[in-house]
Amino acid sequence: MIYINNEKTQIHLSCDNFSYVLGIQNGILLNLYYGPSLMTEGADPKAIELGYHIDAYPSGASFELTRLPFEIPSTGSGWYGESAIKATNAQGDDLTQLKFVEAQILSSMPELASLPHVHETEEEKAETLAITLKDELTGLKATLYYSILAGALIRHTVLTNEGAAPLTLTHMASASTPIVLPMSSHMDLIHLKGAWGRERQLVRTDAGQSIYRVESQRGASSHEENPFIALLDAGATEDQGKVYAMNLIYSGSFAAVSQVKENRIVHLSIGLNPETHRWQLLPGENFTAPQAVQVFSDQGLNGMSHIFHHLYREHLGKSQWIHKERPVLLNNWEATYFNFTADKILHLADEAKGLGVELLVLDDGWFGHRNNDRSSLGDWYVNKDKLPEGLAPLVNQVVGKGLQFGLWFEPEMISPDSDLYRAHADWCLHVDGRARTEGRHQLMLDLSRREVQDYIIGFMKEILSSCPISYVKWDYNRNMTEAFSCMLPKENKFETQHRYMLGLYRVLEEVTSSFPEVLFESCSGGGGRFDAGMLYYMPQTWTSDDSDAAERMKIQYGTSLVYPSSAMGAHISAVPNHQTGRVTPMKSRGEVALGGNFGLELDPGILSPEDKEMAKAMVQKVKEVRHLTANGVFDRLISPFDSNFCAWQFSSEAEVLLFYGRTLSIPNYIPRRVYLRSLDPAGIYEDENGTRYTGAVLMNAGLPMQFEQRDFDTKTMLLKKVQ
Ligand code: DGJ
Repeated sequence: MIYINNEKTQIHLSCDNFSYVLGIQNGILLNLYYGPSLMTEGADPKAIELGYHIDAYPSGASFELTRLPFEIPSTGSGWYGESAIKATNAQGDDLTQLKFVEAQILSSMPELASLPHVHETEEEKAETLAITLKDELTGLKATLYYSILAGALIRHTVLTNEGAAPLTLTHMASASTPIVLPMSSHMDLIHLKGAWGRERQLVRTDAGQSIYRVESQRGASSHEENPFIALLDAGATEDQGKVYAMNLIYSGSFAAVSQVKENRIVHLSIGLNPETHRWQLLPGENFTAPQAVQVFSDQGLNGMSHIFHHLYREHLGKSQWIHKERPVLLNNWEATYFNFTADKILHLADEAKGLGVELLVLDDGWFGHRNNDRSSLGDWYVNKDKLPEGLAPLVNQVVGKGLQFGLWFEPEMISPDSDLYRAHADWCLHVDGRARTEGRHQLMLDLSRREVQDYIIGFMKEILSSCPISYVKWDYNRNMTEAFSCMLPKENKFETQHRYMLGLYRVLEEVTSSFPEVLFESCSGGGGRFDAGMLYYMPQTWTSDDSDAAERMKIQYGTSLVYPSSAMGAHISAVPNHQTGRVTPMKSRGEVALGGNFGLELDPGILSPEDKEMAKAMVQKVKEVRHLTANGVFDRLISPFDSNFCAWQFSSEAEVLLFYGRTLSIPNYIPRRVYLRSLDPAGIYEDENGTRYTGAVLMNAGLPMQFEQRDFDTKTMLLKKVQ
């Protein structure tokens, strides 16, 4: 429900899950309430209005802007923190005083033409509000869009220059919300930090009276941080407590900021990073900031994740694959690295087929003269030394064995040692007169340029049309440097990073919509671009290059805060693990990988007979449970960030798959219990041995976690609801 009162001083957005109350005083947009729903069944919105007289500064009191819960804070007139929206004007100052103009309820949710976004469906419609604010002096107009969709609040901002002189946007937050801290308790912040090989590690810290900034300046959402921040009751757990979360649907540099000022109000915001993004807005022009998703839960972090998972499964992207069972794949990267021949790949295909694998993926090294990571990116024609008969004959032979075929690309890159670079040395991001900084011996193509976008679209379409390729792994292995396009005039140089992302999104739209039957998986040196922006075009992302079972429990647990398991690539790799040197049991590697889109990343030929049998059993198992792991409700049960244990479950009306693991073995272990969630308390659930439990017992009395006496042991249990 969206309600605007007659006086246009209050606006209520409410659904079963939350209420969001805005107020307008002296033309300033304030946030009066954000929290559990105030709309009880049949309630009159007029009655709720009564509870919210604006008393931030009663008449007679001085006009103290520092006290106010600004919806859109901006410095220079009494707010002393980071701004949400700000523009430098022709007079040389950056005062941005946005005053309320109007609020309108729209009949449908706006679709963002050139940016990834969530959309309504026949089954779940949105309600949308547009609020217009304007700075009369400069002519900057801000239209704030709020849609209630599937229990979440979806936001974006459109900035328009209605003045006579150019403006430079320096702050363009997609969402900003003040939340009043409860008197009696502290609030915590969580975010997902990381690095290559250990992405999305859950960090929890006191929100304090401080400014806390979660950001990427890398031109990618990054391994280092994820575009996600949440404020939560200090006592909140997976199952209880209030959580206020924000996630940005964007794959480039971002900033998510929490500011706790003297007034005990937390300002949460998320959007493009002001360090890396500026945008010149000429008179009459518009700028659309990326979409942000705000989720409120009063049922702890699992409650928050349920909303994100449902939203991203049902409302993000158009891929035919979103609801299809994903094929079990075998990728040759860790099996061969660059060192393969056509015979070796065909041999791997036979081995894969023997295990029940459905898709063989040929990774890096099949093109140009690429035998290591020092050359050939950009030369997307087959490496005849390795594949003398070409790509199509190999693909056809693999397909002839009853497997699908997948291929690796890194389309956004260019190696200095490549024919492409020799022909177009200026196509990379660079600044004349300065060295071109290499990362993994490569440079980045300047995707803000139309001819570069068209070149990528051209070779991708040509190759994908040339033979039956069913899957594409789209990799991206370095971050931006010298990110100032040589094609842009100096007033627009700072637009390069965002123009790059718009170019990338155009390319992805063209390529993925031209091959709707192809399954696309995004990758960035593992999980360096695991974000909802990429998931809009490609329904799955390679979660991490680290597939060590112990590390993966943490990585997948952290990733699940926001992203559904149907978005995560999860593979069994060889031991000793190539990233950690650790040896974990095949069964544990497999059971952890059951929690995502399952695959293998090894040469089955090197496995012992026992491990080979186990790998085969795992492939069989995934085929039995993947409908549940892809579409079921996911609950985190025990955090590996807090303990030596980890547990999660997938459930539907009909069944539950429980996973638990222990990192290090414990002498004299007295079984700890795991308590299941989201079950029917009166339902009867039967395990694979025929033992029966009520849902109430599983949730309240729990199950003892039994382990073999060894490190890195895991268990899975499939329970079917029989009554
Ligand atoms: C990084 C990816 O994460 C790996 O899986 C592999 O594809 C390499 N790039 C290839 O260069």
